Order: sequence, then structure tokens, then C-alpha cells
Amino acid sequence: MLVPKYLTETRFLNQQSLSHEIELGLLSESATISPKFLYDSLGSHLFTAITLLPEYYPTKKEKEILDRYQLEIAEELGTGKGLIDLGAGNCQKAESLFNALKLESYVAIDFSIDYLKEILPQLQNKYPHIEMYGIGMDFSKEFQLPQGIPKMNNNFFYPGSSIGNFTPVEAAHLLTQVHAQIHDQGLLIGVDLMKEDKVLSDAYDDPLKLTAAFNLNILRVINSQIGSNFDVSEFKHTIKINHSLQRVELYLEALTNTTVTWRDQKRTFKRGELIHTENSHKYTIDSIKSLLKSVGFKSFTFWTDPKNFFALLYAC
Ligand code: AVJ
Repeated sequence: MLVPKYLTETRFLNQQSLSHEIELGLLSESATISPKFLYDSLGSHLFTAITLLPEYYPTKKEKEILDRYQLEIAEELGTGKGLIDLGAGNCQKAESLFNALKLESYVAIDFSIDYLKEILPQLQNKYPHIEMYGIGMDFSKEFQLPQGIPKMNNNFFYPGSSIGNFTPVEAAHLLTQVHAQIHDQGLLIGVDLMKEDKVLSDAYDDPLKLTAAFNLNILRVINSQIGSNFDVSEFKHTIKINHSLQRVELYLEALTNTTVTWRDQKRTFKRGELIHTENSHKYTIDSIKSLLKSVGFKSFTFWTDPKNFFALLYAC
């Protein structure tokens, strides 16, 4: 029986550069924290809980599409190949294709190697014949497959509308690098489609406050990363729907005047001041196609749910 092989790609994930990135964000006039820091093990569990909320439609809509069209999808991607999952999380989206794709290998890449180590052993048990890899890696700046991963015969999978965390310029930068590493196959990518405000605000500011907990947890991750003293109870989760930039924006708002310190640094927040923690860009079929075209993809097949909430595209 096979066991998952794990590796942490430190070329682009080392503690020093992550700390530096955090400090730059905290010290800039409008404070920002990259959404990748949402995903320590607790944050990954909280996100999985969000996907179970009735209000959080993306995961459910994408799953609906994956289940309904799995045979068509398999026909496009081909069978007996490898699948490289960018931002695998709990690996459930990929798993819905395992049987149809008759995979040889599965490479789960995530910012949180700890979470992958919780998830992959069970998956390997269920699919003993698939060669599995768990890779802890930050591909938000640079993306290159680590050494030791089979380079040929792979499809890339970028589900969940995680691409939405990036601005179109950042997304093009990442997708250019993905495109360069696709040899003979393609990219299966999930994107969330633009829709009415009410649906978005219910999904990103849910009544059970799971999204609030998920967002606030980032402060605890930052505390453990740079040794700062953020007090979670001094901030609250808030969102803005930005129509001109076609995205939902997540913030943490200071409830009082407060000063956060770490090493020899400090940052003061006035009551009402915001820390920008995440963007979730929404697309149209045309806008995602033209983004993919601009980085070199030429042919497209796509599937949507009946309400056109979400789209899955295969680009070659
Ligand atoms: C994992 C980036 C796709 O943007 O919908 C969920 C993250 N943030 N609720 C999204 C998220 C708040 C999610 N992505």
C-alpha cells in the first residue's frame, strides 16, 4: 500500500520572508494582511465549516457541477494521468473526480502542510493505488513545481474560485507560470460568477458568524508568526462589495483605538480603522476566458450550474 509523501517547499515559503511580508503590510498606511495567512490548521478547519453553511454557495455549486459533469470532464482531461491540486484544502473537490479520472497520481499543494497531514492519510486509505503527495507551499508570489514531482502527464486543478483572491494582474502572473508548466494537458479552474449583493453578503457575512471567526483567526496566525500582541476582541469582521472592481472585500475593523506591538515595531489603529484581509473577485465567463487567453491558453470548455452562480472551465 502506498503512503503519502510530504514535502515543504521552502524556496517560496520561509519564515523570514513571510514575517517580512506581514510587517510591510501592517506598517503600510492602509494596513493589509495576505489572505494566505487565514489558513493555519484552525483556519483551514474554519473554512471547511464555512463550506457547510447553507449561505456559502460556491463549494456547493462547484460540487454540483463536478458531480453532474464528471464524465464529460474526464473526457476532456483524459484518464490515467496525474492531477495537481493548487490550494487543495480538504481535498474534497478533487476527490469527486478521482473515480472518473482514474488517476495515477495526486499532488495536493496547500499553504498549510499541517492540514494536509490531517487529510491525506485518510484519502490515501480510500484510494490505495493513487500515488499521493502533500506539499506545503506558498505559490502566491512564484509558482514552480517542486523537485521530485512527476512533471509530465499532469492536469492542473485550481478549484473553489481561489483564483478570486488575486487581482486580475496578480492572477495573470500566477496563471502565466501555471501555463508554462503544462506540457500536454490543461487547467481545470473554478470561478465564482458575479451576482446580486444579497447573495454575496449572506455568503461572506453569515449569521452564524463563522466567516467572522475565520477572518479574526488571521490575527492569531499573525501573532504566532511575528510575535505581535493583537487582541482579537478589539476587532470585528466586516465586508464591502466593490462593484467597480467586481469583488467582495473582507476587513477587520478596530473597535477601539489600539496599538499593536512586536519586536521593536508598533502599529496604532484608530477606532473604525480597517485592516484589509481578503479580496474575493467575481468573474463572468467572458472575463475569465479573456484572462486565460491573455496568458496563453487557447481552447476552452466550460460548465455551469443552472443558476449560473459558478463556473468550471477547462483551458488548454
Ligand atoms: C477560498 C478564496 C475561494 O473567496 O470565497 C470564504 C475564501 N473567505 N469566505 C472565497 C472565503 C470568506 C474563499 N476562497
